[in-house]
Amino acid sequence: MVKDNPKQQLVANRETLERIFHRPENDQSRVVLTKYMEQILFGLHDFLREHVGITEEISLRLLASRFTSSDIDRSPVKKLADVISEIIEEIAPHAVNVSSPYFVGHMTSAIPFFMVHLSTIVAALNQNPVKLETSKVVSVYERQVLAKVHRLLFGLDQEFYDTHVQKPESTLGSFVEDGTLANLTALWVARNRLFSPLSGCAGVEQEGLAAAMQARGIRRVRVLVSELCHYSIRKAAGVLGLGNKAVVPIPVDHSNRMDVQALRRVVEEMHRDKETVVLAVVGIAGTTETGAVDPLHAIADLCSEHRIHFHVDAAWGGPVLLSQRYAGLLEGIQRADSVTIDGHKQFYLPMSCGMVFFKNPEAMDAVAYHAAYINRPGSVDLGIRSLAGSRSATSLVLGSALDIMGSGGYALLIDHGIETARAFAEEIRRRPMFELVTAPELNILTYRIAPGQWRASSGTDEDQSLDMLNRINIRLQRLQREAGNSFVSRTTLRRFGQPDTVVLRAVIMNPRTTPEILRSILDEQETIYLERIAPSLPRQ
Ligand SMILES: Cc1ncc(COP(=O)(O)O)c(C=O)c1O
Repeated sequence: MVKDNPKQQLVANRETLERIFHRPENDQSRVVLTKYMEQILFGLHDFLREHVGITEEISLRLLASRFTSSDIDRSPVKKLADVISEIIEEIAPHAVNVSSPYFVGHMTSAIPFFMVHLSTIVAALNQNPVKLETSKVVSVYERQVLAKVHRLLFGLDQEFYDTHVQKPESTLGSFVEDGTLANLTALWVARNRLFSPLSGCAGVEQEGLAAAMQARGIRRVRVLVSELCHYSIRKAAGVLGLGNKAVVPIPVDHSNRMDVQALRRVVEEMHRDKETVVLAVVGIAGTTETGAVDPLHAIADLCSEHRIHFHVDAAWGGPVLLSQRYAGLLEGIQRADSVTIDGHKQFYLPMSCGMVFFKNPEAMDAVAYHAAYINRPGSVDLGIRSLAGSRSATSLVLGSALDIMGSGGYALLIDHGIETARAFAEEIRRRPMFELVTAPELNILTYRIAPGQWRASSGTDEDQSLDMLNRINIRLQRLQREAGNSFVSRTTLRRFGQPDTVVLRAVIMNPRTTPEILRSILDEQETIYLERIAPSLPRQ
């Protein structure tokens, strides 16, 4: 690390201020900056391997104890060169190397190196698409990117896109921070359209939910979604004033897809009760825990029969549409009223990029806001119909990535993820010590270690056996994570009528994750079980 001369007092003055808006403060800074930027820009993955997440045995408590000061010093305390060295040499090693091909536990993974270049340019331009006056060409560029993804999802005709792509009054979608805010935006729009103004009530956005419900004689508002939904749906219901309890979980079938018969029963029951209204049904295209895709066509049928807003949470699965081989897995998504997709998931963008799309280009009028100094009616200010105010020009990254990769490039990534997950499932099935709990429909699967003597079928009491297996798998996952060679995540599958089951969860999205690597992860788990867990278990 570059050491500061302790005698040299750093000062904040007009001269240094001038300099930081122009260039690195001195040659020393330039050398350090160039050294690391060169590595990051031209050898990203080698750099990450070398510097990030090299797990030293250091506890979070110890790390936290290094970051306890809450003072902001009046004078500068570090030079740029020191700060950069410190981030790379002291922070990065304790970050998580999510780009490792052995990191297969979460929806955050490696990104192509050029994403860093693109993001750097976006930061340098510092455009703010909230209004045309701070983004100009970026606003119209963003509209084009949104139209491309809209077309991927809904596949409407050329005339539709020619008409709406740059029409200021039309909104095909919106960039938001993440999938959570995309789901919130979709339900916000659905809520406002359901409780639109009527005589005596100016609508829910202006008058609030209580007044809007009273004006329509409604006492209960419900959102129906599979019991395996992401918790952002419940969060959205909280924020929108509906309350968590308004989210009604619908059971899943043996493939972890929403049980449409059960959904039908709930919808029909609610329909008969004149004081209850279903605000939206949410189908999931790639559930967080198991990657299952709900039966979108059947849900769409039910929604159109009862005129209910149909939202698809494709935060994870949306980009599967880029694969000719597997796009069919999302059949029915084109019938949605709105769709969530995350760019930072299977579009392989850096954090963070959420998007929400509406089939009807006027739907987002229900959340339009104007102000005297920006977002004037009729303008191309993208902040008019958007949950976010100021935000980054992420569309430049996504649009460029689509140009660089083409749908063919993305298809290779998607196909690799799905096919490698399938091969992994086969390997798990082959190994007597493991049990595949949910097979991959996309590129996520769950499994557990289930040594013979702890399986209920071998004469053990069922509850006891499950409890023991749950505890074994919790320990296994922790020990493997702490060893730092590889990472799979862990979750507890909670489904109606089934006991809570702790499972290991693998998410295969890194193109450098091979079946061989996955086999070595299972080998490591077997070894951890045999050497570190089994000896401490009671004898069966
Ligand atoms: C299906 C699904 N929806 C929504 C989200 C929320 O996305 P984010 O973490 O970007 O807010 C996730 C995240 O894992 C998800 O898997």
